[in-house]
Amino acid sequence: MTYYAVNFCGRSIVLIGMMGAGKSSVGRCLQRRIHVALLDTDKIVASKSEMSISELFAKRGEEEFRKLETEALRSLPTAQQAIVVTGGGIVLRKQNLELLKRLGVVIWLDGDEETLFQRASRSGKRPLLHGTNPRQAFAQMLKARLPLYAKAAYLRIDTSVLTDEEVAVAILSKLKRFARGAEEGPASATAS
Ligand code: S3P
Repeated sequence: MTYYAVNFCGRSIVLIGMMGAGKSSVGRCLQRRIHVALLDTDKIVASKSEMSISELFAKRGEEEFRKLETEALRSLPTAQQAIVVTGGGIVLRKQNLELLKRLGVVIWLDGDEETLFQRASRSGKRPLLHGTNPRQAFAQMLKARLPLYAKAAYLRIDTSVLTDEEVAVAILSKLKRFARGAEEGPASATAS
């Protein structure tokens, strides 16, 4: 049996994916349905540093943010079931991959590049998109991260044409099917 088959029942649902994938909103939809704690690494970092993520990037730089992000991930409980929402760059540090997996089932919210970019740039609150060519920066980040998301995740959901509610429903029905043993292993674990 795989790590996941043994562990994901009763463990956390961990959402990863690029900025704009809808991790926070889908996390809230999941919480409304399954009533467990909703934990968010960005919120933990912001509260610990007493700064918004944008301020933290501006005052202390990305490296410091990444350090605090790993600390936040490490601080999450492994014995309590929760929904864990992560920042888009969580997969950049190798050590984070193990920390993610020990929490529960890691789910990659994906989407087509243009849709993700349009959603991500809407809020204006993402420091990595504040440069002179955000579209190009986004494309480069996505290209570098795709294999990392694929490596970290057990399930991939294409969110491009789904509402947040539909994504939440897709996640829960996939997990239910896995729990019943209807599907086995990461190879068959792609939903859209
Ligand atoms: C980042 C994504 C952000 C936040 C930070 C860095 C990234 O979170 O963690 O701005 O590197 O992709 P969201 O994915 O929630 O936007």
